[in-house]
Amino acid sequence: MIDNILTGHHSEVLGVNKRNLDYIYPNNGRRYFSLVDEKLRTKEIAADLGVPVPRTYLTFKDFRELISFEDQIKAYENFVIKPNKGHGGHGILIIGDRTANGYLDVHENPLPFRKLKRQVSDILMGAYSYGMNDTAVIEERIFPSSFLMTLYPQGLADIRIISYMEQPIMGMLRIPTSLSEGKANLHQRGIGVGLDLSTGKTIHALYKGKSITKHPDTHQDLIDLELPFIKEILDICKIVAAKIPLKYLGFDLTLDEKIGPMLIEINARPGLEIQNVTQKGLLEVLKRV
Ligand SMILES: Nc1ncnc2c1ncn2[C@@H]1O[C@H](COP(=O)(O)OP(=O)(O)OP(=O)(O)O)[C@@H](O)[C@H]1O
Ligand SMILES: [Mg+2]
Repeated sequence: MIDNILTGHHSEVLGVNKRNLDYIYPNNGRRYFSLVDEKLRTKEIAADLGVPVPRTYLTFKDFRELISFEDQIKAYENFVIKPNKGHGGHGILIIGDRTANGYLDVHENPLPFRKLKRQVSDILMGAYSYGMNDTAVIEERIFPSSFLMTLYPQGLADIRIISYMEQPIMGMLRIPTSLSEGKANLHQRGIGVGLDLSTGKTIHALYKGKSITKHPDTHQDLIDLELPFIKEILDICKIVAAKIPLKYLGFDLTLDEKIGPMLIEINARPGLEIQNVTQKGLLEVLKRV
């Protein structure tokens, strides 16, 4: 993945070994990992700071709690099922409208109750968290702001910001596609759009390893757009980073249709693909901090 970054600046590209040895191990103490590896804990920290996060509707920690699954879940119209300790968008199910026998997904395919229950049991068994037992989180489904909605309406685009020593240093917008099931993760075939953090302008877009200028499904232009609320987004990263004793982090935020900037979760080992997306080496920027 790192190979296809702009030629000529290879010394400035951060590779996975150097990221781990020089940035993650010295700056991210293992004992603090759970503050960000567990999405429920991260949301608590952020909420205590007054930072908006998606509301948690229900949590399932044990198979016995699944006996009344259908009755508990029925109370909610739109929600997301996700593993508390998941990564890469694995195990996340975004639920759309309710039907007589269950729900629909973002592309209006039926999702019967038994499928949702199965998803929750897989999460409990650790299918998405390296085999460790996990908690299933049922959280509020966030609907995108008009800016994000124009780019792609079925799903939620998010904004990934890399922060080092409490300073936001690199960012990208991630946009879902018809292949990504409403999720924006590049691993789920979302589009990465590099941002100039000083202006919020989009500078380059990458999809399935290739540069593009328009969204493949909506045909919306992706370059030279101005992401709204860039200052507020960076402020959220700074406020939260100051409270977390981990100094190399990847923040995932979004723009909620009513509330505006919102924090979704944080990563202690953020991926390096952002360098291909922004066409910039992380080392170059890290050295300046
Ligand atoms: N509450 C929500 N409402 C709507 N969509 C959501 C919600 N939470 C997550 N998503 C979608 O799922 C994607 C992945 O979510 P999240 O970042 O929580 O998962 P992850 O597995 O930790 O991903 P990664 O490790 O790549 O950051 C988001 O980019 C977004 O598109
Ligand atoms: Mg994420």
